[in-house]
Amino acid sequence: MRAVTFSRFGGPEVLEVGELPEPQPGPGEVRIRVAAATVNPTDISFRTGRQTTAQLKELGVLPPYIPGMELAGVVDAVGTGTDWRTGDRVMAIVSPRRPGGGAQAELVVVPATSVARVPEGASLEAAATLPMNGLTVRLALDRLALRPGQTLGVTGAAGAVGGYAVELGVNEGLRVIAVAGPQDEALVRRFGAERVVLRGEAAVRGLHDAAPGGVDGLIDAAVLDAAVLPAIRDGGKLATVRGFAGPSERSITIEPVWVTSYLHNHEALDRLGHLVAEGRLTLRVAETFPPERAADAQRKLVAGGVRGRLVIVF
Ligand SMILES: NC(=O)c1ccc[n+]([C@@H]2O[C@H](COP(=O)([O-])OP(=O)(O)OC[C@H]3O[C@@H](n4cnc5c(N)ncnc54)[C@H](OP(=O)(O)O)[C@@H]3O)[C@@H](O)[C@H]2O)c1
Repeated sequence: MRAVTFSRFGGPEVLEVGELPEPQPGPGEVRIRVAAATVNPTDISFRTGRQTTAQLKELGVLPPYIPGMELAGVVDAVGTGTDWRTGDRVMAIVSPRRPGGGAQAELVVVPATSVARVPEGASLEAAATLPMNGLTVRLALDRLALRPGQTLGVTGAAGAVGGYAVELGVNEGLRVIAVAGPQDEALVRRFGAERVVLRGEAAVRGLHDAAPGGVDGLIDAAVLDAAVLPAIRDGGKLATVRGFAGPSERSITIEPVWVTSYLHNHEALDRLGHLVAEGRLTLRVAETFPPERAADAQRKLVAGGVRGRLVIVF
């Protein structure tokens, strides 16, 4: 089977299409014939060597490495003890830092618990954009545990995590204040943001104006880390997505969010799919690429300004 691979860390040019043995599903696993797999910031960290070869080896992960954390396709083989059937249209989340590799391959084996049905009416390309970032936001909201009517700040609100954060926050009855650039104001309003605050130096002041005293909780998809703490009320909560854990101030709880803890949360992924089918969560595909152009997709993501996800189509 073909897969996007790399065998050394470096620039996008280290990516190539490799030919690898077909993986076989074991008990409790399904094999998916992948139609689409997305390109995310985590794929850039993986390719540039955020974890060393030795650290990956400790996890049983050896080159060639396969990037990609989410995919959609059709079940083509099942292990014992799963309810999935061959032919089911599914989406799945997968950690690329495991012996079997990531999502950007023609065939991917995952635990049945990492899989959910493709939402009614969604293409496989669009469905591939949901599992990883949708579950990240689900986890962030679970950690923030806000009540309806409370305020949620979202930085990077036009991005993949940010967009889902606005829509899911609104779905839960939160008053969402989105931070985004002027060109994205209309977009994040369509997601349901009550107020849009312009990104940049005045963003914290803008959040304060929108929520006097500070927001109750904030999902920091733009990775502003300590710089957004002043926008949060005393005793409020901050969900971070790149490991920032403090120091905090004014009894604000900082919740570093790692989506890997929801890799097996089938119920949550299934509920996200239902929200899409109900038109309450928006899937966005910016552009599709063949696997041979995975490097171009990563270059484009790094350049910034992409709205919607870049998708590798097999
Ligand atoms: N911990 C986890 O489990 C987990 C899971 C998923 C994602 N993440 C992380 O979450 C972050 C967001 O991911 P994503 O896929 O949503 O990325 P994305 O689609 O590129 O969105 C990021 C957004 O933030 C904006 N932004 C960047 N720098 C900014 C700044 N200094 N001030 C204001 N806005 C800024 C970007 O605008 P421009 O495009 O105009 O720069 C973009 O709208 C990434 O760091 C990713 O690694 C973590």
